[in-house]
Amino acid sequence: MNCPSLFSPLQIGPYRLEHRVVMAPLTRMRADRASLAPRPLNAEYYGQRATSGGLIIAEASPVMASGYGNPGVPGIYSDAQIRGWQEVVEAVHAKGGFIFLQLWHVGRVSHSSFQPGGALPISASAVAISPELKTMTADRKVTPYETPRALATSEIADVIESFRQAAINALKAGFDGVEIHGANGYLIEQFLQSRTNLRTDQYGGSIENRARFLMEITQAVVGVWGANRVGVRLSPYGIANDSGEADPMPLYSHVIRSLNLLGLAYLHFIEPRSSGAGRAEVNHQNVPSAMVLFRPIWRGVLITAGGFTGESAEAAIAAGHADAIAFGRIFISNPDLPRRLREGWPLTPYNRSTFYGGEESGYTDYPVYGELERA
Ligand SMILES: Cc1cc2nc3c(=O)[nH]c(=O)nc-3n(C[C@H](O)[C@H](O)[C@H](O)COP(=O)(O)O)c2cc1C
Repeated sequence: MNCPSLFSPLQIGPYRLEHRVVMAPLTRMRADRASLAPRPLNAEYYGQRATSGGLIIAEASPVMASGYGNPGVPGIYSDAQIRGWQEVVEAVHAKGGFIFLQLWHVGRVSHSSFQPGGALPISASAVAISPELKTMTADRKVTPYETPRALATSEIADVIESFRQAAINALKAGFDGVEIHGANGYLIEQFLQSRTNLRTDQYGGSIENRARFLMEITQAVVGVWGANRVGVRLSPYGIANDSGEADPMPLYSHVIRSLNLLGLAYLHFIEPRSSGAGRAEVNHQNVPSAMVLFRPIWRGVLITAGGFTGESAEAAIAAGHADAIAFGRIFISNPDLPRRLREGWPLTPYNRSTFYGGEESGYTDYPVYGELERA
């Protein structure tokens, strides 16, 4: 039997990928500040990173106005946003690539200055993020997180409906599929985990109840797209945004077994060893491996991310721990990452200070390999 490698093809739902170097979803906060719609600069960025038969998972995009916690994040609930995304999708398709959109609601990882009417952010329960972690208001003042407002049971259907409508919008924009953001301490994870979910209705208490919100969202999105064009992202053992389940195994085993029944395009993990999205480099030592622990339970395609190099990605695929590897930070600074990994060419280091917000610098001005030498 041929051992799969990073550069062997992979079938994901109806799509045949030509390689397994996936671009991870990356919030870059460079959408139009007024309409929160993607603009031509964003299309250029994604087009630069598209490859024939390669998969890009576009950055997390709020499904409704209350889903925001950061400026300049592109949404997927207005006509202008759908039009903006259409240009992004066209740029990726022009190079023969595939692109999924990540559907997002931040829940309590927000501030009232981002919320419609200045309301408090919403969550599963009124549990604030630790005061040791700070956030920024819309006018860029550093501040502790507020205590969110718990959603009433009767309001939950509206949030699920917003995910369904966003899935319809993504279909209109021409995406190849969607990924549900169930990771990193955002709203769906706030429902999943017992520290942030103190509810006593059918969405809280038992593991089955805490998983209900994710499952109902996933079913709603599957109703729009069909299961084989829908992925789900999870971060068991992650601690981003003051998240973390004391004993993740029973919770995530249940979630993954429930997702198995749907026949999704893929499951996507963030390995807990790396929390690269923050302001500093963090590499946790001696943490469990999500892919190793949960691969035996998951029956479909598994993508994972978190601190991979070309070498460790090859090793994970060769060992059968994952089917594809998503790369975040090094895909930011290497628009031609799949080619560089295949050829063994050196990588351009990334500049963390330009991750979030700004214009071309640190976004569309990273060279492809050899470009500087030729200039
Ligand atoms: C600037 C930045 C933005 C990110 N935005 C998102 C996001 O929108 N959605 C998400 O699921 N993960 C996000 N992440 C996490 C990445 O998708 C990825 O899992 C993480 O960076 C680990 O992969 P890496 O070590 O290859 O960077 C972000 C990470 C970074 C560095």
